[in-house]
Amino acid sequence: MKICIYPGSFDPVTNGHYDIIKRSAQLFDKVIVAVGQNSSKKTVFSTEERVQFIKKVTEHLPNVEVESFSGLLVDFVKEKRANVIVKGLRAVSDFEYEFQMASMNHKLAPNIETIFMMTSIKYSYLSSSIVREVGRLGGCIQSLVPEVILEDIQEKLRP
Ligand code: PNS
Repeated sequence: MKICIYPGSFDPVTNGHYDIIKRSAQLFDKVIVAVGQNSSKKTVFSTEERVQFIKKVTEHLPNVEVESFSGLLVDFVKEKRANVIVKGLRAVSDFEYEFQMASMNHKLAPNIETIFMMTSIKYSYLSSSIVREVGRLGGCIQSLVPEVILEDIQEKLRP
């Protein structure tokens, strides 16, 4: 069984993340979306909210599971008996950070491979921070996040 882990902060999950989840679900037997905490970011949505949003968005995808994790990502990957980490790459600007993370994870666990998927061009400008900013200032985030969680997100971000 080929299992991959798709980790991130998902604060909140965007259409760009959803695109990567769907495409990974076609390539792997099981995708575990791993909601973590980037130590240099303070999240707006709680861990529970971030997990519930992704569960709602992926409930029609039978081979996708959603869990939160703390501690090292590679330990979570091993615990799930997976050996692949999937990450989305939007632009050159993502590369340096992702390269550093993938290299460190490889050093910590050489048997775990990180693979990158290019984010669909139509979402290349999209990020959770853009969604938070536009939502907080009352702008329309309708095409930025999956429809089923739009209201929940708008409600929380609205000033
Ligand atoms: O949304 P992000 O910022 O890309 O998510 C980052 C996340 C949560 C995947 C990353 O910070 C992470 O893996 N945190 C767990 C701690 C860890 O393993 N750090 C070492 C990797 S270099």
